[in-house]
Amino acid sequence: MPETRLSLEPLHAEFGVRVTGVDLSRPLTDAQFAAIDDALNRYSMLLFEGQHDMGDAAQLAFSRRFGALEEEHVSYYSRGEITYIGRVGNINPDGSRVSDRQVKSSTGNEMWHSDSSFREIPAMYSILCAYEVPDEAGETEFASARAAWQRLDADTRALIHDRVGIHDYIFSRTKVSQDAVNEGQRTYMHPVRQRLVRQNPVTGEKNYFVASHVKAIEGMPETEGRALLDRLMAEATRPESVYRHCWRAGDFMIWDNRCILHRGCGYDAQKYRRRMHQTRVRCANPSLAEPLDPPT
Ligand code: OGA
Ligand code: MN
Repeated sequence: MPETRLSLEPLHAEFGVRVTGVDLSRPLTDAQFAAIDDALNRYSMLLFEGQHDMGDAAQLAFSRRFGALEEEHVSYYSRGEITYIGRVGNINPDGSRVSDRQVKSSTGNEMWHSDSSFREIPAMYSILCAYEVPDEAGETEFASARAAWQRLDADTRALIHDRVGIHDYIFSRTKVSQDAVNEGQRTYMHPVRQRLVRQNPVTGEKNYFVASHVKAIEGMPETEGRALLDRLMAEATRPESVYRHCWRAGDFMIWDNRCILHRGCGYDAQKYRRRMHQTRVRCANPSLAEPLDPPT
């Protein structure tokens, strides 16, 4: 079989590409995988359309090429169950609708975030395969904190370069409602420290690492830290820097949580079905262990 070349086309001026020329339900050649891996380091988000032959087994096999997967945290911390396919939307594995409480809890995803930044070893890549999508709304927005770092003034760069952010799932989820977290989550999910500035180990490009999960900046007075976090978030997600994705069944999206922020836009969960399956690849190293080049 002749090897097809991947072709890349920008989705937004600052990040993200549409990739064509590959069927992800089939095993990739080493050259195809290397091209995808390289594109992810460069462009931070990849969209593959029309992947209608995908299934969980193919998604798991593809995802594992990038490294160890993260267990899905909702069932892990509530029932101790280890599964690697997370379910995004309002449909249970048996096809029924999820509870109103679950719908409410997942509106926490409508705040800008980076997946699993509240874990000691956060997610490197999130991979979503769309099976059922609403007829209207239900988009997901993305923005690049790498592009935002490029726009940042030198003083702010120096101020945040060696700082640490405190990420706390209970803090961010209880913004939705007090019962958005269960007892298991309250017991096991403790605040974690993440470097506020990160650097891609392959390209050397830097970005800052903020999200709805960040409660405070270590060693900075609360109000000052909060104001700085809010400013950094607003800068990264200014309207012209946001890519809004309108989902179609068969869309397969990968993004780099080390530098990409995302949020759901909401939809009528009573009226429409939405079902996407997610896998997450863990970062090889906790971000605090990654050495950073000096501030520039
Ligand atoms: C996610 C997520 C938002 C959405 O899949 O990690 O935050 O649009 N999704 O459902
Ligand atoms: Mn998410």
